[in-house]
Amino acid sequence: MFPFSRGIPPREAIPAQELAAQAAAVLAEQPDDVFQYAPIGNHTGDLALREELAKLHTADPERIFVTNGSLQALDLLAAHLLRDTGPDVYVEAPTYDRAVQIFERHGARVTGIPLRHDGLDLDVLRERLAERTPAFLYVIPDFQNPSGVTTSEDKRRALVGLAEEHGFVIVEDIPYRELRFEGTAPTPLAELSPGGRVLTVGSLSKILSPGLRVGYVIAEPHTVTALAALAEGTYLSPAPLLQAVAARSLAAGLAASNIERAVRFLKPRHDAAVAAVRRHLGEDALIAVPEGGYYVSVHLPVPTDEKTFLAAAKKDGVLLTRGSAFYPGSAAPPAGTVFLRLPFQALTPEEFAAGVERLAAVTARLA
Ligand SMILES: Cc1ncc(COP(=O)(O)O)c(C=O)c1O
Repeated sequence: MFPFSRGIPPREAIPAQELAAQAAAVLAEQPDDVFQYAPIGNHTGDLALREELAKLHTADPERIFVTNGSLQALDLLAAHLLRDTGPDVYVEAPTYDRAVQIFERHGARVTGIPLRHDGLDLDVLRERLAERTPAFLYVIPDFQNPSGVTTSEDKRRALVGLAEEHGFVIVEDIPYRELRFEGTAPTPLAELSPGGRVLTVGSLSKILSPGLRVGYVIAEPHTVTALAALAEGTYLSPAPLLQAVAARSLAAGLAASNIERAVRFLKPRHDAAVAAVRRHLGEDALIAVPEGGYYVSVHLPVPTDEKTFLAAAKKDGVLLTRGSAFYPGSAAPPAGTVFLRLPFQALTPEEFAAGVERLAAVTARLA
């Protein structure tokens, strides 16, 4: 079987033994803290953890709000941002499917703006903005899930300019940002707009451990307070034990060393995956050459509909996520193609190449 279906970190990119040692130290030294409730009343997360996260982003700890993974950050932000404004949310098409589901659960009307190899199609975005101003624009600007696209510096500046001009908020979701294999990192959107118009959603899932379930929002203090009130009304706080383990692990430099290790481990997989896609599926199918992260993706011309293609691929042992699921509403891949997200992080170069070779064979057979 060739599982191209999930973007979870490979075992080699989680420093399990080192995390276990930090957890043991927390249990030995702080049992009274971690087995008690966290304080209530605008509690925004474990202070030591917020201080460590603030260092990662050169931000003020007052501007950090800790959540149970970044999906919960998206959930609370959607509740907060959609409460007082209209239902419109603009997203990249394709985009992270779970985010769309969360926004829709909060009553959002989600519109997909086509994503090009270097970020959103700004002409289409301007057309949509001429019709309606969204409550927020959700973007994954670095090594996007699912496409692997990184938004260029120019487009980042343009997005921030449009947000100022039209008065909407940008939510930038950056779980993969640290996993860069080549090129230089463009400026984070939040740095281009220091006035609070950009809210950053971060996560330790891809740089340290998804099991810690540590996500966070970086925002103005009034937004942080509003999110804290929403959190307190539902689950009080993230688990103190996990927050303490995360704080201690960050203080011990585990994220920094693990990022280095993960990049060293993932880069050969990335290089081999891009080469295999070019060889078996063709340069034209490639949406972008990812400079980091987990995903390479294609718009693959196929002679059938998506359902038939996925069923045929599955019969040949290639498991794929339904590409159309990454397109919200009426957005869709170009006519005559299917969108395929091909996560390379969890497959060896040989497995990946054999998987895409089979995809090429399936396409040829269906023709
Ligand atoms: C773009 C994006 N946002 C959020 C998440 C969820 O991450 P977390 O584990 O922090 O909830 C993922 C996970 O794959 C993701 O790709």
